[in-house]
Amino acid sequence: MDRNAEVYGFAPVPAMTISRINPVAVPKYLRRVYWWTYIHPFAVWFFDRLWLINLIVLTNYHRLRDAALAAFPIRPGEQVLQISCAYGDITPKLAAKVAAGGGRLDVIDVLPIQLQNVRRKVPAASPVRYFNMDACNLKFPSGQYDSALLFLLLHETPMDVRLKALEEAFRVVKPGGKVVIVDFSKPQWWNPFRYLWAIFLSIFEPFALDMWWNDIRTLLPAAVRNRRIDRESFFGGLFQKVTILR
Ligand SMILES: C[S@@+](CC[C@H](N)C(=O)[O-])C[C@H]1O[C@@H](n2cnc3c(N)ncnc32)[C@H](O)[C@@H]1O
Repeated sequence: MDRNAEVYGFAPVPAMTISRINPVAVPKYLRRVYWWTYIHPFAVWFFDRLWLINLIVLTNYHRLRDAALAAFPIRPGEQVLQISCAYGDITPKLAAKVAAGGGRLDVIDVLPIQLQNVRRKVPAASPVRYFNMDACNLKFPSGQYDSALLFLLLHETPMDVRLKALEEAFRVVKPGGKVVIVDFSKPQWWNPFRYLWAIFLSIFEPFALDMWWNDIRTLLPAAVRNRRIDRESFFGGLFQKVTILR
């Protein structure tokens, strides 16, 4: 039996049954704002196309994905946690990298339909487990993972969820492990998207502009706020990749 199942009374969700095993409550903000992008089966079918998500991130998908992948794995046998699914091919590629290093990837998401969709894209023999969990309430012991990835999640969450998800990410990562965040940030003054995208985001992504106005450091749990932060900027500052050691 899986160690988590023994100790915590839950198990990785088996194929085809993700939606039937004690589904976690879907947060109100997801139902209200993102039902048409993540919850409805038509949304999953429609949005999970590389060209489309590449367009949504203004042709930066491959750059952001590769920047995220470059951070994993650092050591052979690394235990990696991906906090929430994402459209595109980041999870199969991350799974392949982690597998090549002899490690294991766990993927959590609050929506079973998203886990099913990701599972479909990852070869069945991969060392990957899927858990229906809320990022604010990870049912993992502290210090279980070598590293964790939050790929374009934070801008889609209200501030309280964002802070809690970050707290949980740092809790489940080992001391010395790392948390990698790829998300929006405030573009440079000369970037036209600073003005255009402010309008787009305020209509379609009501929580996203928070990522512009709050430096990522201010969102981190107090215990790691003063750590060294490695930050890479993309597309005139509209996106950032941030790596913080716990
Ligand atoms: C990572 S984000 C955005 C990814 C990006 N737009 C893309 O597809 O490239 C989308 C995922 O976050 C998940 N999600 C949102 N809030 C969550 C939470 N509190 N806990 C776990 N997953 C969450 C959604 O269910 C969805 O699968």
